[in-house]
Amino acid sequence: MNNNFYKKNFLNFSLFNKEDIEFLIKFSSHLKKTRKEKKEKKYLKNKNIILIFEKESTRTRCAFEVAAFEQGANTTYIGPKDSHIGYKESFKDTAKFLSKIYHAIQYRGHEHEKIEELAKYSDITVWNGLTNKFHPTQIIADLLTMKENLPEKKIENISCAYIGDINNNICNSILEISKITGMKINLISPKKYWFQCKRKKNNNVFLTENIAKGVKDVDFIYTDIWLSMGETETSWEEKIKFLKNYQVNKNVLKLSQNKEIKFLHCLPSLHDKNTIIGKKILNEYKFLNNGVEVTNEVFESKNSLVFEQAENRLHTIKAIMILTLIKNVQF
Ligand code: CP
Ligand code: NVA
Repeated sequence: MNNNFYKKNFLNFSLFNKEDIEFLIKFSSHLKKTRKEKKEKKYLKNKNIILIFEKESTRTRCAFEVAAFEQGANTTYIGPKDSHIGYKESFKDTAKFLSKIYHAIQYRGHEHEKIEELAKYSDITVWNGLTNKFHPTQIIADLLTMKENLPEKKIENISCAYIGDINNNICNSILEISKITGMKINLISPKKYWFQCKRKKNNNVFLTENIAKGVKDVDFIYTDIWLSMGETETSWEEKIKFLKNYQVNKNVLKLSQNKEIKFLHCLPSLHDKNTIIGKKILNEYKFLNNGVEVTNEVFESKNSLVFEQAENRLHTIKAIMILTLIKNVQF
């Protein structure tokens, strides 16, 4: 198949169609297999890659670094306070300089407009490692995880309920992917949070306040942290007030009436008291029953695919890097 990713930026899914997404998933799966067999081909020898993180990261950073290393590329990591970007040097000037010595930029930051500016003034490929609006590399890992679990199902026949904060980057990227691929998405949240999704909704999306209706017969239940990076900590109170009944717990899995129901989460997750924030919230809001957006019982259950999802960040990010930088990829 024609590589439609070559020389394209990966800021969201607007440049790609259903065939492209299916091709990307297939190639990711191939990379995962050849890595396991220790037969991985190196496509990125002598490529220089810059990883700019203006927000924290565990998975995305690790996946980009390990993928680059395994493919023969060099990386430079720039953390939130490590460069002049946006403070003493514009995105435009930074993009012009980076284009002279690198082959690609990974950027994780705040406003999506900033990565668009970086892309506008770069001569090299730009990958979005998360902005306030989109998290496209995550959704590709999620799709690979879904396909691995339901190999016989066509993407347009897969159904997923996304429950909780429906105004964040993960949900926006899910909405984009459902429009392109036909995947069925049920968005479940209180009406108060419907304002954004109402505009972006497509024919494959069902919006509901009713958990039982939203999760019935779906293949996957997906949630994300209720307060995203960049939102003020003081918003926790309001988020908990409106989302407290939208926690993924055993009863929500049961309501799906699907014995094979699988749970997805992009991580990090506040599912117990073993983090500073988790402990603080759960000590204050005892009614949450030792889990914020998801209970520990579900998080650690046999239904949970969260660590498979996390591993798939590596294989899918590797595929995105290769397909955008190399024209002829045979597999
Ligand atoms: N899911 C995800 O992007 O994780 P990190 O924030 O750890 O990169
Ligand atoms: N919505 C979350 C995703 C983390 C991977 C955030 O932006 O913090």
